[in-house]
Amino acid sequence: MTTIFAIETSCDESAAAIVRGRTVVASIIASQIDVHRLTGGVVPEVASREHLQALGGVIAACFAEGGLGWTDIDAVAFTCAPGLVGSLLMGSMAAKTLALVHARPLLGIHHLEGHIYSAFLSDPALEPPFLCLLVSGGHTSLVAVEDHGCYRILGRTRDDAVGEAYDKVARVLGLGYPGGPAIDKLAQQGDPRAFALPGGRVESPFDTSFSGLKTAVLRLAEKHRLQSLPIDRADLAASFQRTVVEALAERVELALAYTGYDTVVVAGGVSANRGLRERLGQAGSYRAVFPPMRFCTDNAAMIACAGVARFARGFRSSLDLPVQSRLSL
Ligand code: KG4
Ligand code: ZN
Repeated sequence: MTTIFAIETSCDESAAAIVRGRTVVASIIASQIDVHRLTGGVVPEVASREHLQALGGVIAACFAEGGLGWTDIDAVAFTCAPGLVGSLLMGSMAAKTLALVHARPLLGIHHLEGHIYSAFLSDPALEPPFLCLLVSGGHTSLVAVEDHGCYRILGRTRDDAVGEAYDKVARVLGLGYPGGPAIDKLAQQGDPRAFALPGGRVESPFDTSFSGLKTAVLRLAEKHRLQSLPIDRADLAASFQRTVVEALAERVELALAYTGYDTVVVAGGVSANRGLRERLGQAGSYRAVFPPMRFCTDNAAMIACAGVARFARGFRSSLDLPVQSRLSL
């Protein structure tokens, strides 16, 4: 069975993993969250330096955890796009050096393809075609996965990505960074119908818009502050979460009807969201597949898993493959 070693450094996690088929043999993630918490977000230059410092140890720890050596590895995969260029470069240099030194093929993987393949880690029988709702800090897309490596983008966000909206609203509510998990947790204690918020309807039925929702929360918080009225943060978090989840569920259900698919894969950091898992997981007319919790946010196991599928199809990257900050799927 194909065994792939992978590195992921597109944003603020330095990660390495080994995946055999669809089984994770080892996965190490060094988070930079504590460093970026000090600035309330990721400073790209700082992220690159953190990757440089962390990668050697992360790679060594990954092989130690897996109890494997280079003779067990068929190819080296890495995230080549999209992401912060300085961060991507760190992973790229490490992956290319290892591929060259150990004479292994190199596989450049699109970060979002990695997120899609994270769902294969929770369902070994999963096969295309299926619909994928990609919801992360940088992306919100509805993708028809017609076959392995064959994607048709049905819809995307007109403005903020879902995770980005979570992070910005969390900042307004004073919940810190990253905001998604904090709002998700607080929302469990609030009344989801306490505030009526705009779900961001746009002309295209599969596109989303979350900047209006974000602004509405901001205005509400500001109004309460000016009038010195206390605002129930749990109610606001719950109402925000309900609005987001309903907006996404509506698009998913429309896209399933449009494509005729019976399965939706939810991937990207926001796929860890409890509200989204409950809402889509309980719909009886289709199947919702979520990645294992620890592989929802950025990790290298998903990159390795996508690498397994690409390796099987004979895909290989050249050692001069560039990294790219923007690249569509
Ligand atoms: O996929 P990811 O790790 O990085 C990107 O590629 O963007 O996603 C990170 C995003 C952040 O915006 C974070 O706030 C959000 O995922 N997130 C969540 C939850 N856990 C992480 N959003 C909502 N609910 C969660 N439980
Ligand atoms: Zn991601």
